[in-house]
Amino acid sequence: MNQRIVLAQRPSGWVDEACFALEACAEPAVGPEDVLLESIYLSTDPYLRGRMNAGPSYAPGFALGQPIVSRVIARVIASNNAHFQVGDVVWGFLAWALRSVVPRGEGLHKIDPALGRISHAVSALGMPGLTAWVGAIEIGQPAPGDTVYVSSAAGAVGQLAGQFARRAGARVVGSAGSDDKVAYVRDRCGFDAAFNYKTTDLDQALRTHCPNGIDLYFDNVGGATLEAALRHANVGARFPVCGMISAYNEVGDAGIKGLQAVLSKRITMTGFIIYDHVHKLAAYQARVAPWLRSGELVFHEDIVQGLERAPAALIGMMKGEAIGKRLVQVAAE
Ligand SMILES: NC(=O)c1ccc[n+]([C@@H]2O[C@H](COP(=O)([O-])OP(=O)(O)OC[C@H]3O[C@@H](n4cnc5c(N)ncnc54)[C@H](OP(=O)(O)O)[C@@H]3O)[C@@H](O)[C@H]2O)c1
Repeated sequence: MNQRIVLAQRPSGWVDEACFALEACAEPAVGPEDVLLESIYLSTDPYLRGRMNAGPSYAPGFALGQPIVSRVIARVIASNNAHFQVGDVVWGFLAWALRSVVPRGEGLHKIDPALGRISHAVSALGMPGLTAWVGAIEIGQPAPGDTVYVSSAAGAVGQLAGQFARRAGARVVGSAGSDDKVAYVRDRCGFDAAFNYKTTDLDQALRTHCPNGIDLYFDNVGGATLEAALRHANVGARFPVCGMISAYNEVGDAGIKGLQAVLSKRITMTGFIIYDHVHKLAAYQARVAPWLRSGELVFHEDIVQGLERAPAALIGMMKGEAIGKRLVQVAAE
């Protein structure tokens, strides 16, 4: 039998494992032109929490009793489609299942083995990487002499956002929720400074590590961290708003205090959604893959084994237990 993870109930507040169920299901039938896949890596992403809600009309949530879907890396194990051969490795938006059928192979992207690790197709050279590039470089426009502050700095997006800004000549400061994460971004990713926001007063830390103020704040978390960044921003600062994970498991909207700083300091806050930028992926990969291969760019993945552990892996990622990009491996490469 095949196995899959479905949405068993909608969360209210913090998601827990009761919201998911592992169930046996029939092996998918492979019709004409269809492609049968064996999943290898499931991507766990913060936006999946939003999809567990019923969702607004423009982004409907997962259906109750139906599988969780995310970017999945998979191997073709049977194909009735001339574009896909057995053994091809692909990624697509697929169910959290051991095996899936994709009608006519639609929405599947072949992974070029020359790019490096196949997992990078959904991490450093995929959506999180492009997100870091668009936010930190295209929107943030860091320049030599700028001070850049990145929250969730040890995460999938944050570790690259900081490194990209540093390559552009800026001084980069990161915050993260454990001393191991702080050591990772400072000692491995080359951030100029980093601090543990759970054990430090935010204002004190920003005064210490950004003595000339913040010119660019790459916001991954919103909430109290955004409020502190507003207090320490310079006139003309840019705030690429990538994510607000501190709010995803909260009921209601606590609001942001101190927004008046946007006016008085002429701050540009720019929200962006990576789906609007997917056409840039190939150029991004061509630019960044050599940096990963040469080791100029560091990227850490945290890989949890087993489909049955996927719900706990997703919840744990949102609670901060992973360093870097968290993936769930369900079959050998
Ligand atoms: N705009 C887009 O298109 C786009 C695309 C991709 C991702 N995103 C957003 O980018 C952000 C990062 O995504 P990711 O995939 O790279 O995830 P990630 O940073 O690898 O993982 C999430 C991290 O958020 C941190 N966190 C959780 N609650 C927090 C809180 N209350 N305050 C501060 N930090 C908290 C945790 O790290 P700590 O241990 O440091 O607390 C956790 O490890 C998310 O907000 C996500 O929604 C946006």
